[in-house]
Amino acid sequence: MTITAIRGFNDILPGESALWRHIEDEAVKVFSACGFSEIRVPVADRTELFLRSIGETTDIVEKEMYTFTDRHGDSLTLRPEGTAPVVRAYVEHKLYTSPVTKLFYAGPMFRYERPQKGRYRQFYQIGAEVLGDESPRADAETIGMLVELFRRLDVSGITLHINSLGCAECRPGYKSRLKIFLQGVKERLCENCQRRMDANPLRALDCKSPKCIEATENAPRITEHLCQPCNVHFERVKHGLAGLNIAPNINPRMVRGLDYYSKTTFEITAEESLGSQNAIAAGGRYDGLVSDLGGPATPCFGFAIGMERLAIVIKDKGFQERPLAAFIALGAAAEKKGIELLKLWRGAGLRITEDFSEAPLKKRMKRVDQIGASFAVILGEDEIKEGVVSLKDLKTAEQEKVKWENVVQRVFKVK
Ligand code: HAM
Repeated sequence: MTITAIRGFNDILPGESALWRHIEDEAVKVFSACGFSEIRVPVADRTELFLRSIGETTDIVEKEMYTFTDRHGDSLTLRPEGTAPVVRAYVEHKLYTSPVTKLFYAGPMFRYERPQKGRYRQFYQIGAEVLGDESPRADAETIGMLVELFRRLDVSGITLHINSLGCAECRPGYKSRLKIFLQGVKERLCENCQRRMDANPLRALDCKSPKCIEATENAPRITEHLCQPCNVHFERVKHGLAGLNIAPNINPRMVRGLDYYSKTTFEITAEESLGSQNAIAAGGRYDGLVSDLGGPATPCFGFAIGMERLAIVIKDKGFQERPLAAFIALGAAAEKKGIELLKLWRGAGLRITEDFSEAPLKKRMKRVDQIGASFAVILGEDEIKEGVVSLKDLKTAEQEKVKWENVVQRVFKVK
């Protein structure tokens, strides 16, 4: 009997992984250029970290965490997201001695959700966090950096949704108003929202149940209950985005599924390629989290991109991996010369593998076609004498002689 992968946990196979590598490479380039440095945090942390940061009455904590007790009796959780572990590391290693710390990370996250297109139980995020910057310009510029990454990846047809969730000053007042409203429509809410209504009324606005969406249609809007500083902050974020030529959609219902947010929150959706799971990136400000986790008061802003969803969007628009060539040496002299030539071509950026089989040439051509090479680069005794290779385009079956120094250029010419 064969053993299959766990439901909701995916293998990323060659072809797909080339696109992932491309996304990650572009992200690292864009983020590094903006002054972010990489942080690598463990895939598991103490369960308490997620309870205290994400919030006990969120879906993630109530229903979705992979929590287990290790042999020592400690409760550990596979990270459902990256912000809490990054903040834990920031506090633990006292990174706050620098006025501003800009970090990025990439890796798998784990949530026990119902798997469907764009939603998995192990999924990958690339995230970025700015710790120590209270300026609304940090919000706008960080969103701008993300939009720039999407532009470089040729992602179009996306919408930026933004909201402000207020702060410790104005949110309690809003919550009370919302609670009163929810009391009035209680019977129309799903069981979950009825249960959480008192402890965490905002969750009702995030609930995906059609019943709750309808019942809360006329709920008070948080953007109409912001205090003066939150209002000014939100206006300046919008102004900053306008300066970057980014036109957001203001969505006062967007409360996000994690409790640590304050002020600005946002999501970027790509409706065309994705079904209901259409957020390809999301984030916001979390000014209280560092102090909640034992560090000094530190304003922060960040986001995470969902790799699988972004890959679906880019693949839909057509992504081509760099072409692969396959070298076929005919005879001992060609094998020897090949060592030198392969080094030269690989050094110049060509992806080229070598076929080591000793079968007749026709069979070898078939093999290299089957491994997915676009070109066969053949070297025999005649070619050595002339300083050329016979280069066969395996798609068109056209064959031509190409000088050794022109092979890379010739292969790259073909898309
Ligand atoms: P989040 O909205 O929970 O935020 O996740 C961010 C992104 O991860 C989503 O927009 C989506 O693209 C992807 N994602 C989430 N769950 C799944 C899943 N089950 N399968 C596939 N993709 C998924 C956070 O995680 C915050 N830590 C973001 C943040 C960073 N806020 C501030 N800093």
